[in-house]
Amino acid sequence: MKELLQVNGLVKAFGQAQAVKGISFHIQEGRCTALLGPNGAGKTTTIRMLTGLLKPTAGSIQFHGLRAGEDRRSLLGYLPQSPAFHNWMSGMEYVVYAGRLCGLSPAEAKQRAKELLERVGLAEAAKRRIGGYSGGMKQRLGLAQALVHRPKLLVMDEPVSALDPIGRREVLGLLKELKSETTVLFSTHVLHDAEELCDDVIIIRSGQVALQGALPQIRSEHRRPIIELKLEEHAPSLEWAAGFEQRTSADERLSATIEEIERQGTMLRLTVKDMDKARQALTEELAKEKVRFSRLEAGYSSLEDLFMKVVGE
Ligand SMILES: Nc1ncnc2c1ncn2[C@@H]1O[C@H](COP(=O)(O)OP(=O)(O)OP(=O)(O)O)[C@@H](O)[C@H]1O
Ligand SMILES: [Mg+2]
Repeated sequence: MKELLQVNGLVKAFGQAQAVKGISFHIQEGRCTALLGPNGAGKTTTIRMLTGLLKPTAGSIQFHGLRAGEDRRSLLGYLPQSPAFHNWMSGMEYVVYAGRLCGLSPAEAKQRAKELLERVGLAEAAKRRIGGYSGGMKQRLGLAQALVHRPKLLVMDEPVSALDPIGRREVLGLLKELKSETTVLFSTHVLHDAEELCDDVIIIRSGQVALQGALPQIRSEHRRPIIELKLEEHAPSLEWAAGFEQRTSADERLSATIEEIERQGTMLRLTVKDMDKARQALTEELAKEKVRFSRLEAGYSSLEDLFMKVVGE
């Protein structure tokens, strides 16, 4: 696979504070990558450096396939986190205007605007004022604008975060189609959106990469066997749960297989090494202690668990 973008040791400091603290990653042509992280993680700052809107304090950004002297903006289509539209323009006027800014001739810009508005489902609304568009329509217009010069890489900052459920569906559906046509990088704080669209994820937290890789690989590498136990509201059983951690460290069989115990009210969640051994030891313990439970479930940790762990630490 061909590499499109290589980012090395990217740093951005605002005064004393570093918003981005040495981020490295690369993006391959044809892949869809999510920059995933909680509020304030440094997603927008990273994206603004990629687009050239913000100058890195340190580090390098290299676009492959850029001819000598060619501006990176010719390769990039960009949809910002809160795009500002000229509300008095029509959708059509806006995309033509964006095309002209990218150096297209008037005829080309018009042709391309027509194609793209069709593509994003705004053909009928093309002549209406943007001021009357819904959030989802504006975001789709933003996509048409970003694609007007046929960029190799489409970069979007939180493309669906501000939308209601219907708008999200519209835009996610469109992105699913677009990602087969161009390389995509987008930021989100919602794991589910990343899972729905992406091949690769870069999870960032406090300005640093916490975890990155192809989704299926991350999923299988970090999958852990889990046992969930839901107790009844029964005082002796809850007492047992409160002392379970101690009992585990004192018990050879339990401690040999239980790696982690999390307790929340009547829920116990055990991360274990060996499901068979853990199940055996635990059911014996439950029977011996006459613990009243309403549910006992064996399964695996999800990507959500991993994400919460990575960003929550
Ligand atoms: N121009 C600026 N001046 C000072 N600090 C800034 C500036 N821009 C961003 N920051 C700080 O950098 C950190 C990262 O911000 P950034 O906007 O990149 O995060 P984000 O991941 O995009 O968050 P969100 O999910 O809220 O959009 C934050 O602590 C923010 O306050
Ligand atoms: Mg942001």
